[in-house]
Amino acid sequence: MTDHDHTQTYAPDPAFTAQANAQADLYDAAGADRLAFWDEQARRLDWSTEWSEVLDWSDAPVAKWFVGGRLNVAHNCVDRHVEAGNGDRVAIHWIGEPEDDARDITYAELKDEVSRAANYLSSLGLVAGDRVAIYMPLLPEVYIAMLACARLGLTHSVVFAGFSPNALRQRIDDAEAKVVITADGQFRRGKPAPLKAGVDDALSGNGVDAEGTAESVQTVLVVRRTGLDVEWTDGRDAWWDEVVPQQSTEHTPEAFDSEHPLFLLYTSGTTGKPKGIVHTSGGYLTQASYTHHNVFDHKPGQDVYWCTADVGWVTGHTYGVYAPLSNGAECIVYEGTPNSPDEHRHFQIIEKYGVTIYYSAPTLVRTFMKWGAEIPAAHDLSSIRLLGSVGEPINPEAWRWYRDNLGGGTAPIVDTWWQTETGAIMISPLPGVTETKPGSAMRPLPGISVSIVDNEAKEVAAEEQGFLVLTEPWPSMLRGIWGDMERYRDTYWSRFAEEGYYFAGDGAKWDSDGALWVLGRVDDVMNISGHRISTSEVESALVGHRAVAEAAVVGANDETTGQAIVAYVILRGNVDAEEDRQKLIDELRAEVSREISPIAKPRDITIVPELPKTRSGKIMRRLLKDMAEGRDGGDTSTLSDPTIMEQIREKGTRG
Ligand code: PRX
Repeated sequence: MTDHDHTQTYAPDPAFTAQANAQADLYDAAGADRLAFWDEQARRLDWSTEWSEVLDWSDAPVAKWFVGGRLNVAHNCVDRHVEAGNGDRVAIHWIGEPEDDARDITYAELKDEVSRAANYLSSLGLVAGDRVAIYMPLLPEVYIAMLACARLGLTHSVVFAGFSPNALRQRIDDAEAKVVITADGQFRRGKPAPLKAGVDDALSGNGVDAEGTAESVQTVLVVRRTGLDVEWTDGRDAWWDEVVPQQSTEHTPEAFDSEHPLFLLYTSGTTGKPKGIVHTSGGYLTQASYTHHNVFDHKPGQDVYWCTADVGWVTGHTYGVYAPLSNGAECIVYEGTPNSPDEHRHFQIIEKYGVTIYYSAPTLVRTFMKWGAEIPAAHDLSSIRLLGSVGEPINPEAWRWYRDNLGGGTAPIVDTWWQTETGAIMISPLPGVTETKPGSAMRPLPGISVSIVDNEAKEVAAEEQGFLVLTEPWPSMLRGIWGDMERYRDTYWSRFAEEGYYFAGDGAKWDSDGALWVLGRVDDVMNISGHRISTSEVESALVGHRAVAEAAVVGANDETTGQAIVAYVILRGNVDAEEDRQKLIDELRAEVSREISPIAKPRDITIVPELPKTRSGKIMRRLLKDMAEGRDGGDTSTLSDPTIMEQIREKGTRG
């Protein structure tokens, strides 16, 4: 992604500015008094007890925001809209993957459904602070389940339904979840695929290498979605439709402390073990609500809002569920893939429901580009008035294509930088206020403090690359890594400990106009279609196969997915026949898919005689990355054996 044209800028359209939620004075207000600014933003929400202090940073790096304040997140996302007389508004237009399978849920209906689910979960004896794992496709029940947890102060841990039983088990054990909420199966490209079976495997340990016991799990609650046959464990398993609908719709939400943990979300770090990122309530919802209002220019009762992310990722949490519902939005929730039954699906949905705000990812935009401009052109997309992008740097070509073909050549694009850890958007243009440049996230939002520094924590000059750091705490920041506060300090706060900066793990630069460009990860984390996967996770899955002695994995540029996973493996014994080597490569791909998820499957696997190592035995990934990206190797003088790259090139078997 190097075609950065720093000169091309798009000024805000005055007509947009005239009606925009955010005005330029937002920057001034935050600049004048940051904490007073956040104090004001928190008043977007309903609190049952007011806070005594905006921020307590005395226990840094663990922040307390809105100290002593009490609120109920589900009340803020559901009940208060009903109480305000907007119960008849649609909260969710749910659209199933099979055509004509759709359901609209109003805020009043959502309140009843969430109350029923909350009453059921309480009947199990769960109490505030208990953990609930949710392993589900994008069904209405996933929203209901998350909000029911929030209502009761249960901490949910949503696990992407594309993750393997192995990955699910790891997350269940780490959080000691008492309940798993799942579905019998999910529709994928027109076919039902089992899901409950994966939960059974995860819990019984079938095909799973787990250290824990999964003994924490007492109940598996199953949504009937596909009608697929499922195995049943009496006393543990319950069908949602047999236990939830008969519950009462009366449920009084209790207010919880602002710092009560709302959810855990596991994300890849630089080691094989995923990190359970901890998010709390008041600060999280404040920043979620504030950013959704200002960055997406959302107007309740007018806009139809679609965030295309799956709920298994942080974007699906913050901008699929909590932020839009806190603002009383009318949301599109689509269960399936964008090409089911064909490539017109997203555009048909936009046209049919009159979507006005569309928030998606560069990888999908590039996929649309490949399918061709005639597909969006066949639909009336004129309702769209704002486009968003998240997950990876958007290349300028994709940015322009997005604006021209989905945004009628006029819609502002908000390129939003943030992370699972930040909880909500941190860097983005404000539509109607900030001018935009294709490929740049432009500038930190009002209330957010960012710097780009060198190794010595000195701010770099314009056009120089450095490390992206956050220099002040922010309300929706993570409060730790579940069960491992030391790793929390080490990972994010040790690099610039003296200055107290949060190290984001991304490289970035300012251009000469002061626009911020995010340049990608500077650690061993890959970004595949906007999904974070660590090289060591994939390496450990590969060496888990009996035939593999050693593996090295790198992320290489890929036209559609941003990065692709490229693996180099050394075998334990001799496998000489080409056919056998290819078969083994297929097996290795399947192994990674089984261990982690199909999304972690390497694009290329090369069987090599050796790996490039320094004299001290460290694998030189840079050389492998060069090779994977088709560049002729750089400096090989530090290699223990300088001929290695030649050998890999000549003797490697690629599949
Ligand atoms: O490298 C950055 C990239 O995605 C990482 C965060 O990944 P995750 O926690 O999975 O959250 C993704 C959705 C918020 C970041 O460290 N990233 C995210 N958004 C952008 C981005 N890179 C460039 N531009 C963005 N807009």
